[in-house]
Amino acid sequence: MSDAAPMVLVSRVSQTFRRADGQKVRAVDDVSVQIPEGQFVCLLGPSGCGKTTLLQMVAGLLAPTQGEIRVAGQCVRGPAPERGMVFQKDSVFPWMRVIDNVEFGLKCRGVAKPERQAIARRYLAMVGLAAVERAWPRELSGGMLKRVAIATVFANGAAVLLLDEPFGALDYVTKRQLHDVLLTLWGAGASGGRRTVLFVTHDVDEALLLADRILVVHSGRIVDDMAIPAPRPRNSDSLLLPAMVANKHRLLAHLGLEVAPAVPVLAQ
Ligand SMILES: Nc1ncnc2c1ncn2[C@@H]1O[C@H](COP(=O)(O)OP(=O)(O)OP(=O)(O)O)[C@@H](O)[C@H]1O
Ligand SMILES: [Mg+2]
Repeated sequence: MSDAAPMVLVSRVSQTFRRADGQKVRAVDDVSVQIPEGQFVCLLGPSGCGKTTLLQMVAGLLAPTQGEIRVAGQCVRGPAPERGMVFQKDSVFPWMRVIDNVEFGLKCRGVAKPERQAIARRYLAMVGLAAVERAWPRELSGGMLKRVAIATVFANGAAVLLLDEPFGALDYVTKRQLHDVLLTLWGAGASGGRRTVLFVTHDVDEALLLADRILVVHSGRIVDDMAIPAPRPRNSDSLLLPAMVANKHRLLAHLGLEVAPAVPVLAQ
């Protein structure tokens, strides 16, 4: 792959489903986008706009009805270890202990036990779960399970991480802690540079805190492509930067949420 080639290339991709009642649904409609290596991209859009469908096609879990997807120059024809996905719902095998979950992908690829155990332990330590490596998933909280899923996807060494609302169901504090965990792992890089991330969310602040770039999806199309140049590390104060406030207004407008003008405080 030449330096100039994008890591993810989506060319005129569509996905049409046929529902049980026979009706056709165009979940993704002629989408084209190029994502350079190492970029952190958030896909933001309302429920049902086609975010998961697009991610599943990049993962190779679903073949496009039309168009082509290339990752690292290769046409996507099925799932591959270079593309790691964290699903919107459960991403952890309940019948495996924590460390066995994290090791599983490496085991499937024939990595020897001592090596895969060392890799799994390194990532479990980075997500703050070293002490529970022998626990069963049922013994963990929702936030801890998400940490296991994040450790697993990084341990597998995927160059492209496909994260489908990984923190959607979590409380605000846990979510913010996991943003820091995710960004630390992303920034720490693998043997080479940063991984390329496609992160689905419908949380505007989450997208602004995490992304280099936000793709707004609506009715199966990308309707806006915004660069988020705010410096890192970002925190709640980053959201108050004038450029971020302007971006937030633009995103809220896309979601159909008008920003109410500030109510003046009445003099007593
Ligand atoms: N297997 C399927 N069969 C039929 N229709 C489907 C299928 N999968 C998705 N759809 C439809 O495609 C559209 C896009 O669904 P998708 O799951 O990609 O949305 P989403 O943006 O991820 O939504 P959410 O934010 O709620 O997760 C929806 O109208 C959905 O009903
Ligand atoms: Mg979805």
